[in-house]
Amino acid sequence: MDGTRAEADSLVVTKVSPHIGAEISNIDLTKPLSDSQLAQLKAAFAEHQVLFFRDQKLSFDDHVRLGEYFGPLGRHVGKQTISKTTENPYVRKFHYDETSTRISGENFHSDQSCAEIPPLGSILYNHTIPPNGGGDTMFASMYAAYDALSDRMKAYLDGLTATHDGTRVFGPGTPVSVHPVVITHPESGRKALYVNTDFTSHINDLPPLEARHLLDFLIEHSIKPEWSYRFRWEPHSVAFWDNRCTQHKAIWDYWPATRSGYRIQVEGTAKPVP
Ligand code: SIN
Repeated sequence: MDGTRAEADSLVVTKVSPHIGAEISNIDLTKPLSDSQLAQLKAAFAEHQVLFFRDQKLSFDDHVRLGEYFGPLGRHVGKQTISKTTENPYVRKFHYDETSTRISGENFHSDQSCAEIPPLGSILYNHTIPPNGGGDTMFASMYAAYDALSDRMKAYLDGLTATHDGTRVFGPGTPVSVHPVVITHPESGRKALYVNTDFTSHINDLPPLEARHLLDFLIEHSIKPEWSYRFRWEPHSVAFWDNRCTQHKAIWDYWPATRSGYRIQVEGTAKPVP
């Protein structure tokens, strides 16, 4: 490959906080990526856990193509969801306005951790953003949360499992699954804390009082600002997060303004393992 081509293909990766997130520029997601761009994108995703893109006017086809670079797309497992289906079975509409009484994802969570094999990642594209700000999304690194635990706590958590109950969020008929409290990321091999407010109903294997207080501690610890980042959307921004090592939370501070976009999810590859 000649030098000019190599430079044109080079993504600009700008870290946005010490522990999580990078903004990717010099990329046009409305066009197929070259092999070199894709390799850089995958490396950035593995390192930074959530990637942000600006000024990308994505069609459904563009959105789907981006997701499929990372694996087959999956379907939402929830029975009663606030987000809506569209004419594309993999693209869901995330639209809130003055008629909304709730939005999706107001508590920190990892998407559909109630599934037997939760999604690998999710890609949210917002074309419309409240005119006076608001509607940011918070992201937290579960690698950093795990790393910050004491060695004694890490040893205590070793081998524990927790129940993730989808019916709490998405109603009857939604899956309930048991996952390790600490998982090993299938690609990086790093350990990540894997409990969250929305889905984790209880820690198994412990007396109830101990289990409840441990879960409360882990949830409070997992979302500390020290390993979180608050992403400010602009019209046509995209956020692509790794559900296996991050949690996120949508902030609903903009009612009655409108925030609108679409989300896809990339299917997970395996059941989470310790
Ligand atoms: C979600 O995927 O939980 C929603 C995130 C957002 O709307 O910012």
